[in-house]
Amino acid sequence: MRRFWCLLVKILTRLSFGDFQWCKRKELMDRLNGSANLMIVSDLDFTMVDHDDPENLALLRFNALWEAYYRHNSLLVFSTGRSPTIYGELRKQKPLLTPDITIMSVGTEITYGESMVPDDGWKQYLDHKWNRDIVMEETAKFPELTLQSETEQRPHKVSFYLEKGKAPNVTQTLSKRLENRGLDVKIIYSNGIALDVLPQAAGKGQALAFLLEKLKADEQGPINTLVCGDSGNDAELFTVPEVNGVLVSNAQEELLQWYAENARGNPRIIHATERCAAAIVQAIGNFSLGPNVSPRDIGDLMSNRKVHSPSHEVVMFYIFYERWRRGEVENPEQYIQKLKSVFHSTGNFVHPSGIDQPMHQTIDTLAKAFGDKTGKDFRVWVDCISLAEVSLGSWLVKFDKWELSGNESRGCSTKALMNAKVDVPDEYTWMHLHHTWLDDVGGQDDVSWLL
Ligand code: GLC
Ligand code: MG
Repeated sequence: MRRFWCLLVKILTRLSFGDFQWCKRKELMDRLNGSANLMIVSDLDFTMVDHDDPENLALLRFNALWEAYYRHNSLLVFSTGRSPTIYGELRKQKPLLTPDITIMSVGTEITYGESMVPDDGWKQYLDHKWNRDIVMEETAKFPELTLQSETEQRPHKVSFYLEKGKAPNVTQTLSKRLENRGLDVKIIYSNGIALDVLPQAAGKGQALAFLLEKLKADEQGPINTLVCGDSGNDAELFTVPEVNGVLVSNAQEELLQWYAENARGNPRIIHATERCAAAIVQAIGNFSLGPNVSPRDIGDLMSNRKVHSPSHEVVMFYIFYERWRRGEVENPEQYIQKLKSVFHSTGNFVHPSGIDQPMHQTIDTLAKAFGDKTGKDFRVWVDCISLAEVSLGSWLVKFDKWELSGNESRGCSTKALMNAKVDVPDEYTWMHLHHTWLDDVGGQDDVSWLL
């Protein structure tokens, strides 16, 4: 196994990559300023996203932890079986953060950054001993195989539905037939229903090994890597050398079987007692990879606040704001003065509609809005926080702020200017706050958007 990985890495490091991709990676490098502290590589369906939790509570807990403590020096990688099309749909339905790197279609497509710039070197590499037409021809001879939707058929991935009981036989026979036709493929069965045919060099594990090698070449290799998954196509992730891994408590039978046969007793891999994103937080604690208490797990966020950084301040404030509007803050009166001390009296707030008003006037409006979202599905989260210390103790903080109200979510690109308090350690004063709609309805005045 080890020899295989070494060989793979040797081949991969010889590949050359386009300038644009290099720029994207350079962007990451500048942000990280050296090694990534932690790289989380997580599957999405039933790992990061719990489809049985309509409130997305575990996901929101993870999001708050990531943005408060990890975003500035770590890497978030989503590794999903979904094609770009249905990955895009999931992002619209769920409060997912923006990952630094996205690996889609079971490790056959890698993209960088928010703009999702594809890694063409990876695509070329996958052409080795791969021919889609032959795969289509041979699989057509199996009546048990039902093709998945058109969106899930990708250049290096052909996907079917197949009953659980038939999987072992079909996999074996198909694999022999494709080999006889000169192909070198990998057949993966997941979720007790899906069968994917990929080039041998593809898959979530190989894509991760490739990525780690590239990051190392840029001196950005992570200090720690945590892989997270629930189903068959995630098994490979756990075989990448030197990574820690977590199987969520709700892992599928085929992954549990893989675990029992290959990884039980391996201290680097745990089967969590928590579901989905809560299992990821649990694993961060279990492997001592960094802070593992989500700001969402703190009861009183306003009194005795110890703030570690401007990112932490932003995350805590917006959780407080969500609880305020949901009417979940006890004795609200006691917080008005506190809020006025957090927001500077000369500061201004620019509403996304363009209205510019004194910050304290906005706090008065917020005071009146206590509990206006009680009993409604109202959630707030922040994404992509970035920081720059513009002068000693003075920070420009950029982030996207999202509000979910009922079925609709809206986001604002946000800039805040914040000063560290000279007299009180671990506290910040918000000097200025400016919101701009992320979507194109621009100029529209949404009076329920407060801060
Ligand atoms: C996702 C993909 C599907 C694939 C499955 C298992 O559900 O949409 O095409 O078969 O993952 O990898
Ligand atoms: Mg999954």
